[in-house]
Amino acid sequence: MTSTVAVLNQKGGVGKTTVTLGLASAAWAAGLKTLVVDLDAQANATWALGVDPSLDYFGTGDAMKSNRAGSAADMVVKTGWGQDLWILPAAGDLTERDADTRRETSVKRLSRSLEGVSEDYDLVLVDCAPSLGLNTSNGLAAAKGALLVVEPTVFGLRGVGPVLDLVEDVWSTDNRDLELAGVVLNRVPAVSADARDRIVELNKMVGSRSVWKPTIPHRVIVNTAHNERAPLHAFGSQSRELTDIFDTLLRKLRRTID
Ligand SMILES: Nc1ncnc2c1ncn2[C@@H]1O[C@H](COP(=O)(O)OP(=O)(O)OP(=O)(O)O)[C@@H](O)[C@H]1O
Ligand SMILES: [Mg+2]
Repeated sequence: MTSTVAVLNQKGGVGKTTVTLGLASAAWAAGLKTLVVDLDAQANATWALGVDPSLDYFGTGDAMKSNRAGSAADMVVKTGWGQDLWILPAAGDLTERDADTRRETSVKRLSRSLEGVSEDYDLVLVDCAPSLGLNTSNGLAAAKGALLVVEPTVFGLRGVGPVLDLVEDVWSTDNRDLELAGVVLNRVPAVSADARDRIVELNKMVGSRSVWKPTIPHRVIVNTAHNERAPLHAFGSQSRELTDIFDTLLRKLRRTID
């Protein structure tokens, strides 16, 4: 519990997986023992970490289905990145799990399956799907910190309220340890009056302490790293700007949730 962070937003394509993988890359480079939990049936994090979701792995859906304390222990696999980076793959029927309507009996399934498991890691990063459904609630119920990824656009900001409401809801009903760790801004243009205005608005919404710096710019190397299923930190000077950013964000994250 103590070191677990849910990376979330209801809105798709904002960079949840990119931020999860960027932080995982920073943790990889720092030699931290890290577990990525893939809660998204799209399995993008699983794939980018070099684990082929088409193979017959057990994973997050199975762990939740078993509803047994510590069931994830036998399902985590070492990632293709090596070092001490592990993944609970997006396997098992996550779509079916998300549709489970028995919320009161289902929201603690992920935290139950990680009982005695997450303590083995310095950091656990949960990559949520673009939804505020039951699987994301499970991610939040298992986490100490909620990390929102937001783009500084009109539509990007419109989605923030419902996400904050869900964090509040899970805090009040299922997980008193949960806190908003912060909001990470992704794809921030270098010069844009509109983006600047949106960031001012976001600061008013969540408080300036919760809006993390540095922000993340749009950089092609992000796609290169995903495509090569490799950590950003493996690209040397080509990715230095971003690795410096993710190193700082990881330090901030660890200070916030410790
Ligand atoms: N800072 C960035 N610079 C360049 N490309 C980026 C950046 N952030 C995200 N992308 C690209 O945008 C696309 C969507 O990003 P990503 O998959 O991380 O979003 P997501 O929120 O996890 O999406 P989903 O909601 O589908 O899970 C990907 O192709 C990714 O490589
Ligand atoms: Mg994703």
